[in-house]
Amino acid sequence: MSVSPLPIGILVSGRGSNMEAIAAAIARGEVPARIQVVVSDRPGACALDLARQRGLKAMALEPRAYPTRQAYDLALAAALEREGVELVVLAGFMRLLSQDFLDRFPGRVINIHPALLPSFPGIDAQRQALEYGVKYSGCTVHFVDAGTDTGPIIAQAVVPVRDDDTPETLAARILVEEHRLYPQVIKWIAEGRMEFQGRRVRVRPGS
Ligand code: GRF
Repeated sequence: MSVSPLPIGILVSGRGSNMEAIAAAIARGEVPARIQVVVSDRPGACALDLARQRGLKAMALEPRAYPTRQAYDLALAAALEREGVELVVLAGFMRLLSQDFLDRFPGRVINIHPALLPSFPGIDAQRQALEYGVKYSGCTVHFVDAGTDTGPIIAQAVVPVRDDDTPETLAARILVEEHRLYPQVIKWIAEGRMEFQGRRVRVRPGS
């Protein structure tokens, strides 16, 4: 079954490895999506350079140029709407999005978090997991609501925690799974395979 590519916008703040993994999967023809624009809240983000090297439209929108959080979020939503974005993909975007933003893209904003939610939300998730002493961790792709990493879970991947792990070694092991899982979820959404039952998100089998 061929589907027309889903127009997506990717929001980034830093390194951009998830953005790269998504762009590479699209380029290989594995995900029926098109990256309309990459937007960063930080003009110096490496992710913007990587996006431009791939010939993608990339722009910085700096919060300090706006008087309030609401004004920023509305400008961000407007920029994405202008590009025809239908799915907003947060890939290391370090700002919480307000309800004002989310209302413009209802059920169409997703995030990846480097822990098995609902454990260890927020920043430094890998360090939180190590300090707690869990033996498995991983990553979670979820829909975004106005809370911190609290939206309905779409998919998770698990990795073992080793006795000699540091936050960095654990992060690297989780990142391998992030790069596999995030494009996979975008593919499911682009194929219209998501089903909801309350907070439960299910994926219909592909044809
Ligand atoms: C990833 O670990 C992601 O789970 C978290 O922020 C990090 C972003 O990394 N939300 P990158 O910018 O995609 O390399």
